[in-house]
Amino acid sequence: MAFSKLSPFFSLLLLSILFMINFSPIFCDTDEEDDLLKGINSYRASLNLTILTKNDNAECFADELADQFKNQPCTNSTGANTVPGTEPQFANYPKLLAKCHLNVSNTRDGAVMPACVPNLVPSLVLTNFTESQYSDNLNDTKYTGVGIGSDGDWIVVVLTTGTPEGSFVPATTSAASSVSKIALIYHVLFWLMVAFYLL
Ligand SMILES: *[C@@H]1O[C@H](CO)[C@@H](O)[C@H](O)[C@H]1NC(C)=O
Ligand SMILES: *[C@@H]1O[C@H](CO)[C@@H](O)[C@H](O)[C@H]1NC(C)=O
Ligand SMILES: *[C@@H]1O[C@H](CO)[C@@H](O)[C@H](O)[C@H]1NC(C)=O
Ligand SMILES: *[C@@H]1O[C@H](CO)[C@@H](O)[C@H](O)[C@H]1NC(C)=O
Ligand SMILES: *[C@@H]1O[C@H](CO)[C@@H](O)[C@H](O)[C@H]1NC(C)=O
Repeated sequence: MAFSKLSPFFSLLLLSILFMINFSPIFCDTDEEDDLLKGINSYRASLNLTILTKNDNAECFADELADQFKNQPCTNSTGANTVPGTEPQFANYPKLLAKCHLNVSNTRDGAVMPACVPNLVPSLVLTNFTESQYSDNLNDTKYTGVGIGSDGDWIVVVLTTGTPEGSFVPATTSAASSVSKIALIYHVLFWLMVAFYLL
């Protein structure tokens, strides 16, 4: 008896684990992003600067920007890494910010650094940031957080500050990010199904 009740339970458990694994890539960084974050933080450590902590909203925004860049060729002369110190401007910039629960008042002091490297070769990607005008930002003590997004040959680094103007954290924050909300929904659904099968 117990056994016949248990096997649907375990198949459900398995299904639900598979489901989670299937969804996890959305929540995980790509290797390129992880490599770059490690590289940037070792660079900061070598300069005795604080390491940058991950900022979810900045990462969201970096992803949105990378998505905007992805169809531009690396050679585009209006492309970002040929224009020192300028931030990319898209007509839909405020909309992209809004998608990540941000607006100009909490992102103004941040820095946006896009780079294009064919196939995002990790060593080239890192030097693109540490050995360019971008090192100016990476050397700066005012930055405390970071978000990285990539798409195609493009990788975008967004730096955040400890001040409200660059925190990338909305004042009236729906702080628990959508990620944890989705996780919660799955969690509840999972236990509902368990209850359904056991009762
Ligand atoms: C970092 O700190 C160490 C120990 O305090 C010191 O020897 C080193 O010169 C510093 N490096 C830089 C780049 O400031
Ligand atoms: C180059 O970039 C500019 C601005 O980002 C864009 O308007 C233009 O379409 C791009 N050109 C190509 C060939 O992708
Ligand atoms: C970034 O890397 C690409 C490809 O290696 C190179 O063409 C470009 O000059 C680099 N940009 C910077 C700012 O280092
Ligand atoms: C950042 O610091 C490194 C190491 O001290 C230095 O080589 C580089 O020129 C600095 N970058 C800028 C823009 O000052
Ligand atoms: C930005 O969002 C904050 C709340 O997070 C709000 O108080 C502020 O008015 C907004 N600023 C703009 C320019 O929309």
